[in-house]
Amino acid sequence: MARAAFCCDFVDMKTMNEPSANSFTATQENEAQKGEGKGPSAKNRISRRSFLGKSLALGAGTMGAGLLAETAVASASAGITQGDIAILRWLTAAEIIEGDLWQQYNELGGIQDSEVPGGSGNEAYTGALEVLDEDMPQYIHDNTDDEFSHARFLNAFLVSIGEQPVNFDAFRTLPSSQATGARQIGRLTNLMHLNVDTSWYLRYRSARNPDFGFNFPQLIIIANRPAIPPMDLPSGSDAIQAIANTAAFHFAAIEQGGSSLYTTLALKVTNETVLRIVISIGGSEVNHFAIWHDKAGNAPAVSIPGPGGVHFPDLGSFDGNEDKQKNLIMPEPCDFIDQHLPDCSVIRPSSVAKGGAVRAFHAFNDSRLFFGQSTAFVAMLSKLAQDADAAERGI
Ligand SMILES: [Fe+2]
Ligand SMILES: [Fe+2]
Repeated sequence: MARAAFCCDFVDMKTMNEPSANSFTATQENEAQKGEGKGPSAKNRISRRSFLGKSLALGAGTMGAGLLAETAVASASAGITQGDIAILRWLTAAEIIEGDLWQQYNELGGIQDSEVPGGSGNEAYTGALEVLDEDMPQYIHDNTDDEFSHARFLNAFLVSIGEQPVNFDAFRTLPSSQATGARQIGRLTNLMHLNVDTSWYLRYRSARNPDFGFNFPQLIIIANRPAIPPMDLPSGSDAIQAIANTAAFHFAAIEQGGSSLYTTLALKVTNETVLRIVISIGGSEVNHFAIWHDKAGNAPAVSIPGPGGVHFPDLGSFDGNEDKQKNLIMPEPCDFIDQHLPDCSVIRPSSVAKGGAVRAFHAFNDSRLFFGQSTAFVAMLSKLAQDADAAERGI
């Protein structure tokens, strides 16, 4: 075990922000209360937990600071290496980023309740998302809830083993959408100028694997486009539908990235409890991707012409084309480990070069998710990613 004082940029972060695992939770949940009862429609939309469940969760949370920290976590933390901690810190950072972007989606297009920080919903945007599936608001809400749970848990685990939590509150400076439904608060991420990677659509229908050097083109070119409405737009317009379609492809892009990231980093973990955390949260990311992969295929044809526009084709027209048919959402068996072995249906990529933390950082950054962010924030994230990829199993 090597758990000497952890030294990195987060020492400075701690000076700027007190340890925040708890404040993060409290702030978000207090804010969530403000959105309760609002929203575009309550039709068949429910939270996933009963009040009893909430009470139990609160009880467990209280225990987490005391008894659990001294028993289960303490014994489980034996043998946690500096590499394990670097992996956990990067994953916490990624989850906070995910939480920030999903919160923005939820405020405008999810159900509004007390479970996650909500806005008041945007009728035109929600309607456009529901063109893809009437359950989109529920799924957006629940994905948001999951990301907050990931960040909250990972930070609490770090604290429980005597490590600093990750806190980006000082960087929540980016503007909110001006559309009805969005709260006017500072954001970590920017969803209004996105380059959305749509290559996952072709990759998961292919027998080829990026880990063997195969590069996949984009299915749809989505460059410098909004995934949330920057302002109120007319219901039923091409403009709002193109934004909802962009969001649908971004949902899948984010979650397939998480699927590869957790799979890749699990291979570097030493401690068994940390491994359990990484593969268990990773499974949740895979589940998210599977849902969004299916929903993106329902994106209707719509075009925004001209410079800065976007063209979503009729995905139904690809029926019979194994590279693009929209319902071919199960992971096609592909090259794995050795191309002489039979193809296997797996998460792909899972190599550090193609699916590791640095690759994930570049995917975030290249997508313009941090458009307008400070260079300090981007540099700090880059360092966290490098540290995670430098982890070696057993060291
Ligand atoms: Fe997550
Ligand atoms: Fe996720």
